[in-house]
Amino acid sequence: MNRPLDLDDIQGNICKGYGRYGFPKARYFFLQFHTPDQGRRCLHQLIPLITNAEPWAADGDSPLKPDVTTNIAFTYAGLEALGLPQRSLNGFPGEFRMGMKSRADILGDNGPSAPEHWDPVWQGEGIHAWVSINGRDMDAVETRFSVIRGIISDTGGVSIRPGHRGADNTLLPWQDASAVYENGKVTPKEHFGYVDGIGNPYFEGCGNDPSRLPGRGKLNKEGQWQPLATGEFILGHVDEAQEYPLAPEPHLLAHNGTFMVYRKLHENVTTFHHYVDSVAQDFDGSRELLMAKFSGRWPDNGAPLTLAPDDEAKAALDQQLASLTEKADKGDACAAAQLKALKDQWIDFTYADDKHGSRCPIGAHIRRANTRASLETQKGAFNTPSALDDRRRLLRRGLPYGGGQKEASDATEQGIIFMCLGASIERQFEFIQQQWINYSNDFHLGNDKDVLIGSNNGRLTDKHIIQTQPKSGKAPFFCSHLPRMVETRGGDYFFIPSITALNMIAQGIIDPT
Ligand code: HEM
Repeated sequence: MNRPLDLDDIQGNICKGYGRYGFPKARYFFLQFHTPDQGRRCLHQLIPLITNAEPWAADGDSPLKPDVTTNIAFTYAGLEALGLPQRSLNGFPGEFRMGMKSRADILGDNGPSAPEHWDPVWQGEGIHAWVSINGRDMDAVETRFSVIRGIISDTGGVSIRPGHRGADNTLLPWQDASAVYENGKVTPKEHFGYVDGIGNPYFEGCGNDPSRLPGRGKLNKEGQWQPLATGEFILGHVDEAQEYPLAPEPHLLAHNGTFMVYRKLHENVTTFHHYVDSVAQDFDGSRELLMAKFSGRWPDNGAPLTLAPDDEAKAALDQQLASLTEKADKGDACAAAQLKALKDQWIDFTYADDKHGSRCPIGAHIRRANTRASLETQKGAFNTPSALDDRRRLLRRGLPYGGGQKEASDATEQGIIFMCLGASIERQFEFIQQQWINYSNDFHLGNDKDVLIGSNNGRLTDKHIIQTQPKSGKAPFFCSHLPRMVETRGGDYFFIPSITALNMIAQGIIDPT
C-alpha cells in the first residue's frame, strides 16, 4: 500500500489530463540553455509558474482552477546542459539518455517517419527543455507565453528553438495544439474523426475521483478493479513488481518525477478516408463499423465494440442512449442512473467474452494498446489476471494540432501531439510501440501492425484481420495493402522532475554522493 502522495510536489500534467479539465488550447515550446548558470537562473524564475497536481476545488482549502497551466521537462542533453553531476546523469535509464531519434529502429520511425523528415526543430542537437502552457482559451495561453518570453529574455543565455512546421509550410518557434472544434464547440475528437481520450490509467494516489477507477485500474482475481501501483507512473514509489523503478541518485532528484514521451504524429487524412472508402465497398457493414473495427470504438461517440459489435447493436444502443438522455434531462432520476450505468460501460469492460475478436478485432488499436487482461490464456496463471499488461500502461496527455482548413488533406498540417508518461519509457511506451503496435506475436497475428499508427507501407501483407464468430460460418474479413496513416514528425524523451527537484536543479545542489 502506497502512502498518500505529495500532490503539491508533483507536476500537474502527471496527474491531470488538462484537456479533460477544460483546457482545450496548448502551446509547447523547447528551450536551449547556452550555459549552466544561465539555464539555472532561467529555471529559478520559471518555477513559481509551474502547476502542481493538487486537486482544484471550489472550497477554500484547495486552490481554484487557474486560467492557464505551465509545466516543464528536460531531455538528457538538457540535464547535462544544466550542469547535473555526471554520476547523477549516469543513473538515468539508457533509452532516455539515447533520446528518441536514436531509437528510430525500435519505434518503427522509418520511411516518411524517419528522423531526417522530422520538423527542422528536431534536426541537430540543442533541445534541452520542453515547456507546456495549457489554457482555457488562446488569450490565456498567449498571456502566459509572453510572461515566459519576458523571463527568458531577462535572464539571457536561453533561447526558444524555432522550426515547428505550421500551416502552409511556415516554420514557427512553437507548436500550438488544440481540441478539434465543430460548429464552434469543443469536441473530444481527433482528425480522423474518432472520439479520443477515454481510456487512461487510474493509479494509487492520483487524486482522481474514485468513480473513474472501473475500467482504468487493474483487475484482481475476483474480477474487481483496483488502482495501479503509483510506481508505474511516478518515480520513488513502489511499482507493480513491488520494486522501486530505476531512477538516478540522489533520491530527491527522481522522487515524484517521471518520464515523458513527446511525439508529433501527422495524420494523413486523405489516405485514411480513401482507404476506408475503398475497403467499405466490400465490407459487410457500414463505413462507421469498419472505422470502429480499426480502433475498437465507434468513431462518433466512442462506444466500445465489446458493447455494440455491429450496426444493429449500435443502432439499438444509440436509441437507448437518446431515450435515457431525454428522460434524464426531464429530471427522471431512475433514467439518469441507468444512463450513468450505461455510459460506465464505455470504459468498464474486458475482452473476456470476446476471446476470438468477433466483437473487437484482436488487432484493433485499443486492444493492442491496452490488452485488458486478454493475454492471460491460462486461467489463474498470474496472481493478478492482468499481470502482463499492468506493467505496460500509459498516461496519455496529448492534444490534436492543426486542422481548421476548409479542405484537409495529407499535405495540410494536422495530427496529434502525442504525449505519454510513465516510470519506464522502455518497458511501457517502447514495448507497446514495438511489440504491440508494430508487431503481433503476442496476439498470434504474425507481423500485422496497427491500422491507425503502424508503420505500414501499402503492401499486400500490411493487413488487419476483422475476426468473426468461429461457428458463424462467416470468413474473417481481411483488410490488406494498409497504407501509412500516421507519420512521425518529431519528438524526444523528457524527464519531468518534482517541484523539489526543480528547485535543487535551479540551485545547482544536486549531489549524488
Ligand atoms: C495519431 C495517432 C493516434 C490516433 C489517431 C489514436 C487514436 C486513438 C483512439 C481513437 C482511441 C480510442 C479512445 C480512447 O480509448 O481513449 C485511442 C486509445 C488509445 N491509444 Fe491511441 N491513437 C494514436 C496514437 C497512439 C500511440 C502512439 C499510442 C501508444 C503507443 C496510443 C495508445 C493508446 C492507448 C493506450 C489508448 C487507450 C486504450 C484503452 O485504455 O482501452 N495511441 N487512440
